Amino acid sequence: MVRRPHQRSIHLNTREFAIALAQQAGVLLLDYRRRGLAEDTIRAKTGHFDIVTEADVASERLISDAIRAAFPDHGFHGEESANHRLPNEPWFWVVDPLDGTTNFAHGLPIFGVNMALIHDGLPVLGVTCDPSSGRTYWAEHGGGAWLRFGGQDTQLSVSAVADLDRALLSTGFIAGRKLDPSHNRAEFTALDLRSQSVRRLGSAAVVLAWVAAGLLEAYWEEQLKPWDWIPGWLLIQEAGGRVTELTGAAAGLSSVSLVASNGQPGIHDEILATIAGVRAQSGQR
Ligand code: IPD
Ligand code: CA
Ligand code: CA
Repeated sequence: MVRRPHQRSIHLNTREFAIALAQQAGVLLLDYRRRGLAEDTIRAKTGHFDIVTEADVASERLISDAIRAAFPDHGFHGEESANHRLPNEPWFWVVDPLDGTTNFAHGLPIFGVNMALIHDGLPVLGVTCDPSSGRTYWAEHGGGAWLRFGGQDTQLSVSAVADLDRALLSTGFIAGRKLDPSHNRAEFTALDLRSQSVRRLGSAAVVLAWVAAGLLEAYWEEQLKPWDWIPGWLLIQEAGGRVTELTGAAAGLSSVSLVASNGQPGIHDEILATIAGVRAQSGQR
């Protein structure tokens, strides 16, 4: 592997620790699924569309205990235990112990474990484990994006599809949609008609890894949390793609809206323009 000049190196052991830990959490999730989830262990968190199960909590406990034991001076920002602010430590971890909880609760095998390591405000390592397929996606800043499958690493690159009308897209809808039912609906329709198709797959983590792997051309969504998308941000950048906010502004740790693509102007810029056009028409910003 050729190291690029701006690469921020992390210790090989740190990378292998993170990959092994995400995979261990993935095995724990599959075990919960195999045993079957009791209905009373699935509960609403912030509302009807935002649920949490005993598996989310157990996965986060496994990951946070391991990180705290291995890196006592690192911060930890996990979905099931975090407050709203990112940690202040120079090194910290952002963790979604189970992304795609609704799929998981129904037995649909599209869910993942998401982990990113941040150093001085930049993601240096991102890991997304898709346990149902045995695939783990990982990226290091400046070191490329990789798929680990059957113990082998294969370098990832985004797809070369250049036109929106041949692009397969994905999106998601906000958890608060009972209160705001039209959110993203006109955008969905416009992009569905302009592209090959739009999928709604239910796990931002897995979808972003699939953009990095070239299976999908682009994804957009709003009101995301750092643990949903930061590992995928690094994966896509390292696989040659582009990640911005819906306004086209560069993504940053505190971004909540996202267009993530293979970077082709005929796709990324067209998605931004289509969304802006729909919003201009409806008077939204
Ligand atoms: C959710 C999933 C979903 C996306 C939501 C996320 P969770 O995460 O990634 O695909 O549409 O915005 O909150 O709640 O399953 O961890
Ligand atoms: Ca999530
Ligand atoms: Ca989650």
